Amino acid sequence: LYMAFTLTWIGHATLALETGGYKLLVDPYLSHNPAAKVKSDEVEADYILVTHGHGDHIGDTVEIAQRTGATAISNAEISGWLRKKGVKVHAQHLGGGFNHPFGYLKLTLALHGSGLPDGSYGGNPAGLLLTTNDDDKIYMAGDTGLFGDMQLIGEEGLTLAVIPIGDNYTMGPNDALRAVKMLTPQHVIPVHYNTFDLIAQDADAWAERVTAETDAKVHLIQPGEQFVYP
Ligand code: NI
Ligand code: MN
Repeated sequence: LYMAFTLTWIGHATLALETGGYKLLVDPYLSHNPAAKVKSDEVEADYILVTHGHGDHIGDTVEIAQRTGATAISNAEISGWLRKKGVKVHAQHLGGGFNHPFGYLKLTLALHGSGLPDGSYGGNPAGLLLTTNDDDKIYMAGDTGLFGDMQLIGEEGLTLAVIPIGDNYTMGPNDALRAVKMLTPQHVIPVHYNTFDLIAQDADAWAERVTAETDAKVHLIQPGEQFVYP
């Protein structure tokens, strides 16, 4: 059976995505992540995608990149910060896409902040829109509030949307439901919840509402579990 892509939710907003023989890590927050069952010295990566500078997203990027030789992809400001630490980088910015070996990756708008752990300026936060080499479209929203231009992202025709539902720092369940209505993905996976008490959510209740009010299929995978497509 041919797998177009496999997405593992490591926990919080950390994802491992395998597609076309490439291993991508997204927002590799491992050492201080209470939900992660793997350690930062155990993960493999060809590319590390970083949505924004906050500690629970840039996480262990430097250590993993130095050990694996992975190329980090982020906005220009975070890429510059990583380059100074000896990390191989590919800088992009909002609205810009590039044909990487694993697919066409575009940075999208995110309504959030992006300060780096040492107080450095991290530019604007981003979401990620990946068109795989099989033409599947995976939108990983990063940390964001609801914004109307999610409609534009939805117009691209999403196979899968990975969106935060935790509230407090990002969209909560109500706005995440509205996001699904704008994004109209075939499949949706909620993340950035239940890592800490502050972002505890009833994902089952949210999934019931999404199922009742949209055509999206919700996948409530647990940290460490995979979504395999198709
Ligand atoms: Ni954040
Ligand atoms: Mn976060």
